[in-house]
Amino acid sequence: MIKFEHVYKEYEGNSAIEDLNLEINDGDFFVMVGTSGSGKTTTLKMINRLIKPTSGKILVDGKNIDDYDLQKMRLNMGYVLQNIALFPNLTIEENITIQPESLHWNKEKRRKVAFDLLEKVGLDPKEYAKRLPSELSGGEQQRVGIIRALATSPKMVLMDEPFSALDPISRTQLQDLVLKLHRELQTTFIFVTHDMHEAIRLGDTIAVMSKGRLEQIGNRDDILNHPKNEFVKGFFQQEKNGQATVGEMIDAGFGTKTDQAINSSLLKEDSLNRLAVELKDNNGVVVFENIDDNYQFVTSDLLDFFS
Ligand SMILES: Nc1ncnc2c1ncn2[C@@H]1O[C@H](COP(=O)(O)OP(=O)(O)O)[C@@H](O)[C@H]1O
Ligand SMILES: [Mg+2]
Repeated sequence: MIKFEHVYKEYEGNSAIEDLNLEINDGDFFVMVGTSGSGKTTTLKMINRLIKPTSGKILVDGKNIDDYDLQKMRLNMGYVLQNIALFPNLTIEENITIQPESLHWNKEKRRKVAFDLLEKVGLDPKEYAKRLPSELSGGEQQRVGIIRALATSPKMVLMDEPFSALDPISRTQLQDLVLKLHRELQTTFIFVTHDMHEAIRLGDTIAVMSKGRLEQIGNRDDILNHPKNEFVKGFFQQEKNGQATVGEMIDAGFGTKTDQAINSSLLKEDSLNRLAVELKDNNGVVVFENIDDNYQFVTSDLLDFFS
């Protein structure tokens, strides 16, 4: 089990994580979801000690991570990044077996693990083992990125937006693949995404982050049907009814209060299609009345919301 106890992280005096307390159980498919800058990568990298908390403790199986031998600890923590980062001059087999080689596994054992894993993700080893990364599609390379992280049978795998650079079809296939791998292996998956659809699709446990704070943690039903606050409700509303509104964008933290004069009769209940039209008609800046304030959206708010 992984446990965060009152973890804070500041970068040069700016708070990135505020009093984070959470537990991740063994074997869970744990998804952390939140908009860009909410602290997801920081949280993930604190687990494998790429980033050190400013204060607070992180425990793995009851022991402070600082008390583990770093090399040994990292071998038990696979790590998959968004940009695939395979070594271009090494074959696929060599890429998969970098860690096993550093552990001095013999050639036969290394080959077996590479071939078994390639098989598992639907890449024929006889065809793919000898190829170079440039001879694979983006989706295929990311499959290799995932199995490379599994080569030493780690206890947990940390994945940081691994599919966000892929086209929608490859992304869906890879989501299915990680669900299958998770069912087959007894490994804890810790998966970071900004995509609420992906979070709902993959997570057994879902942690919703905003601005360095954990807003809610729970299963699909908790998050979709029992949101703890307006932020969580707003973030997942679209998933629930497929029709996002201006109010949900405000709840999700987009737009700003302003002293500018109103130039639009936009309402909280209006659809985002309506907002797009208003932005177009008003040179990309819409000011409308929201309860007692004048509120402003710019075009990038809408784009950021959708991304
Ligand atoms: N090395 C760094 N130096 C300064 N600020 C950083 C650094 N890394 C991240 N931050 C800031 O910390 C906050 C959280 O970042 P991050 O964990 O990368 O968020 P996410 O992965 O959710 O997009 C952001 O405001 C970001 O700008
Ligand atoms: Mg990130």
